[in-house]
Amino acid sequence: MSHVRIFDTTLRDGEQSPGFSMNTEEKIRMAHQLAALGVDIIEAGFPIASKGDLEAVLAVAKEVREVPIAALARARKDDILAAAEALKPAKSPRMHVFLATSDLHLQAKLHMTREQALEAIGSMVKLARNLVAEVEFSAEDAGRTEIEFLCQACQIAVDAGATVLNLPDTVGYAVPEEYAEMFLKVREHLGDPEHIILSAHCHDDLGLAVANSLAAVRAGVRQIECTVNGIGERAGNAALEEVAVALAVRKESFGIATKLKLNELYKSSRLLTQITGAQVAPNKAVVGANAFAHEAGIHQDGIIKNPLTYEIISPEAVGVPSRSLVLGKHSGRHALRLSLTELGYDPNDAELAECYRRVTTLADQSKQVRARDLMTIAHEVMRRKAVPVASEAAPAV
Ligand code: KIV
Ligand code: ZN
Repeated sequence: MSHVRIFDTTLRDGEQSPGFSMNTEEKIRMAHQLAALGVDIIEAGFPIASKGDLEAVLAVAKEVREVPIAALARARKDDILAAAEALKPAKSPRMHVFLATSDLHLQAKLHMTREQALEAIGSMVKLARNLVAEVEFSAEDAGRTEIEFLCQACQIAVDAGATVLNLPDTVGYAVPEEYAEMFLKVREHLGDPEHIILSAHCHDDLGLAVANSLAAVRAGVRQIECTVNGIGERAGNAALEEVAVALAVRKESFGIATKLKLNELYKSSRLLTQITGAQVAPNKAVVGANAFAHEAGIHQDGIIKNPLTYEIISPEAVGVPSRSLVLGKHSGRHALRLSLTELGYDPNDAELAECYRRVTTLADQSKQVRARDLMTIAHEVMRRKAVPVASEAAPAV
């Protein structure tokens, strides 16, 4: 397979976490941006969860035609019917059916035996396949499922018509070697059929979601489920921008990358923060305000001489505004306000005064204040303000 598919679940697993829920209009706006980013599939919601979510999935399926749309369903008839209804307008629909397979989940949560679980997987994947052309099966808590039983469950899902098999580390418990090993064993059990795509879905409880997803790619996984800014249940999901940039920057090591337009990453991150009001941490990889800011004198000196000294990713490549601002100690407050407005900020007089003080201090030290330095300053001074999407077009990678 030529590339690693990006299954974006910002609008489902992402919005499922406290403080991140989105209404229909917001989901549509975000879905259009995800399409511009070039994701391979958008999971738009969990239609049985609420009437609002069913309507949101319907609306996204109607409005966003250029990307396949997925909807989530438990392995239950009502869920599957609701998801099928929501997916009706989609040009390329995918039903995402899941059932937990770990003994812990089966016994404590579902009160099901393994035999009952296998029966439900077979019959519900078959039902979904009769309603929608493409079916993905997820073995929830696969990371803590006994491997022989997991292989059995996967075989039954494939026999019932699933063509994508997702093996989530639902609770973020796995470590990279272990997670990769699980995929190798399942692949071997299935006989590595060409038409089956294996998929990784990792949570970040131990801060390993991206590392685990990348390890899965080395084990033959060709779909990664992830979210913009890494939002999602508890500590979140694998961050889409980190997965994509890691695969791109280390392409010689992985031998495969995504098809994303990386210069849309920053804009996607900003749109999400604008919609949800939740800012990313300044030190967040790829899209954080400090990701391309250099404060230490030695680093600044290196960057001026050759950016490769301290930057493995160019800010332009991921769409971070990098235009050199001619902001220096001679610049006035008017130019500063204009530059801040261009970056999407709307400072009051006190904030402007504080930004001015910091800009002139920095200008004294390094002569030039670039857009990304200004963004760091603006973020620190106005951290509680939602930041609108940067409209600047970025050059291609
Ligand atoms: O984390 C998980 O197991 C999930 C499934 C529903 C795919 O989100
Ligand atoms: Zn999840």
